[in-house]
Amino acid sequence: MDSTDIRPVTGAAVPVGSRTAADGGEAFVHYLDLTSTLRFFQRYKERSYSALDLDAAARVLDAGCGVGTDAFALAERIGPDGVVHGVDVDRHLVDEAVARAAAEGWSERARFHLGDVTDLPFPDGSFTACRADRVLVHVAEAGTAVRELARVCRPGGVVFVSDPDYATVVIDAARPELTDTIVRAYAAGLASPYVAHRLPLLFRQAGLRDVTVSADTFVVSDLAVAQQVLELDLMAERAVRSGAVDRRAADGWLEDLGERASRHEFFAAVTGFGVRGRKPGGPSGTGSRREGAQPPSTVPRDPASGGER
Ligand SMILES: C[S@@+](CC[C@H](N)C(=O)[O-])C[C@H]1O[C@@H](n2cnc3c(N)ncnc32)[C@H](O)[C@@H]1O
Repeated sequence: MDSTDIRPVTGAAVPVGSRTAADGGEAFVHYLDLTSTLRFFQRYKERSYSALDLDAAARVLDAGCGVGTDAFALAERIGPDGVVHGVDVDRHLVDEAVARAAAEGWSERARFHLGDVTDLPFPDGSFTACRADRVLVHVAEAGTAVRELARVCRPGGVVFVSDPDYATVVIDAARPELTDTIVRAYAAGLASPYVAHRLPLLFRQAGLRDVTVSADTFVVSDLAVAQQVLELDLMAERAVRSGAVDRRAADGWLEDLGERASRHEFFAAVTGFGVRGRKPGGPSGTGSRREGAQPPSTVPRDPASGGER
């Protein structure tokens, strides 16, 4: 794929929970690197790679690729004829992914572009497998995003999307109703906090078939890790700012969690759902090309030059 395949993205950086490149790109890179070291994330991500039915010549899209960690893991699983394209709406993260690809020798097999999952800069049927992990929770038009992933997937290919579901957050605390209020206030600040349990419907509406769902629960007893992954401070802050609770209640809630942690009694969990579907038509193995079939076109929908990095 050359640079003319890619249209430039317009619009501002999309918030990622509390974080955008504009308000702390390095902090977000640190967050992504931290989660990629946690066993829970490594395990469900491994399973999500297997769900893509990759073969040596696979063409994979990782939408919302962040710093490229998944793209590199996928590049390792495919052969020299395969390629992974990562797309992210955040220029800082795309630049970081490009730098890491160069440093780690993945530039040939892992390419990165600035782009929006709701308006992907690729022609129809470009990929044998498309994925987005922890992305649609930050996308208001999640249905459009799923339709785009299905559009750029070739017939017979696999689409896999996974997201945490903020309807499933549990945090053991002295006042469960206060916890619910705080968690709901935090979720209200996300674009699509409950998209994960709507994904099967969105997949069917996008015309995907053989839709299956898996669930993974992140259980955490370490307050520091929970702070990073669940953003407990931000939960309390958002609840205060939205008027859902007063400052005293929010501070008391955090204090209670801290005391529980000091007694080794902290407990929190959140479930993520992974949804897999297949685009109708084509051969059944996603990466397996029919004898004599042409590889997906790389002719751009819109020939504007743009941002392949
Ligand atoms: C929590 S990170 C997940 C990154 C990566 N998928 C992972 O699991 O490590 C969410 C990513 O989605 C990107 N993102 C958010 N909205 C997006 C959109 N509309 N189109 C493309 N990427 C988007 C963010 O910039 C960020 O890199």
